[in-house]
Amino acid sequence: MKKVFVTRKLLKENEQKLEELFEVKLNSNDKIYSAEEIIEGSKDCDGILSSVTDPINAETISKLSQSIKIIANGAVGFGNIDFKIAREKGITVTNTPDVLTDATADIQILLLLGASRKAYEGRLAAETQSWKWSWDFLLGKQMSNKRLGILGMGRIGRAVAKRAKAFGMEIHYHNRSKLSPELEDGAIYHKTLKELFEQSEFLSVNCPATPETTKIINKETLSYLKENTVVGNAARGDVVDDDAMIEALKNGTVFAYGLDVYNGEPKIHPEYLKLKNIFLLPHLGSATKRTRWDMAYRATKNLEQFFSGQKPQDQVN
Ligand code: GLV
Repeated sequence: MKKVFVTRKLLKENEQKLEELFEVKLNSNDKIYSAEEIIEGSKDCDGILSSVTDPINAETISKLSQSIKIIANGAVGFGNIDFKIAREKGITVTNTPDVLTDATADIQILLLLGASRKAYEGRLAAETQSWKWSWDFLLGKQMSNKRLGILGMGRIGRAVAKRAKAFGMEIHYHNRSKLSPELEDGAIYHKTLKELFEQSEFLSVNCPATPETTKIINKETLSYLKENTVVGNAARGDVVDDDAMIEALKNGTVFAYGLDVYNGEPKIHPEYLKLKNIFLLPHLGSATKRTRWDMAYRATKNLEQFFSGQKPQDQVN
């Protein structure tokens, strides 16, 4: 029986399924392991089932036991794993696409709405019990019938577009390449990020974290935005230069920012916690029971396929 090191505590049903298929080393206390603990704990294993919180960089990979042949990441993003170095070492890396598309697109809409309609300030005011309705009390920006720019029109970006259309929004996007008319579904392609930013009244960040997208939202690119743009980020903190975003939130380029993901999670830039035109969530994009079950199941399926000699359906390297 193959042996799998599971870095984080999963839902009970998922752990039971893994136990039926493999010998497993579970993390019943759900401790967040350091790189050293992952290396040490997985020494006698054939594979690792990892999570977004695991730092599996080039150095960690170089120190992993030769017996490790697969890292099945229980997430659609795999920026936490140096998948190229893993390939060089003969380690297959997989992710879990599709199953979290809807949950994450739902959260993206929540971020855009929460930010634009001042949900955070509203909650603070409600807590005082002394707020009063008035004609100009906490006026937000209406999302309906506006132009939405989507940066990264993959599965999640397209699911956001579908939802936004129900708000009567006009969809614009920038992507590495133009999509087929069928996938575009009426969305307007912009060849450059500058063109997209200049058009957007709302901006949905849905691109993966890669070396190319690191801090793609920075002082220069933020200057392409119209005054008072609403931005939502359910992708990765790494794609945003926080200092530049904070400046844009203070000078009114960005009306409000809704975000679920952070540079150096779980830490959050202290300025974000001071600003009012912010709507923060603690990385809840895929946090529904159904979705988490599906993600762990899909990672398990990838392990099962790999160990039975097939190419796993979600191999990324
Ligand atoms: C969540 O952030 C994921 O990448 O699955």
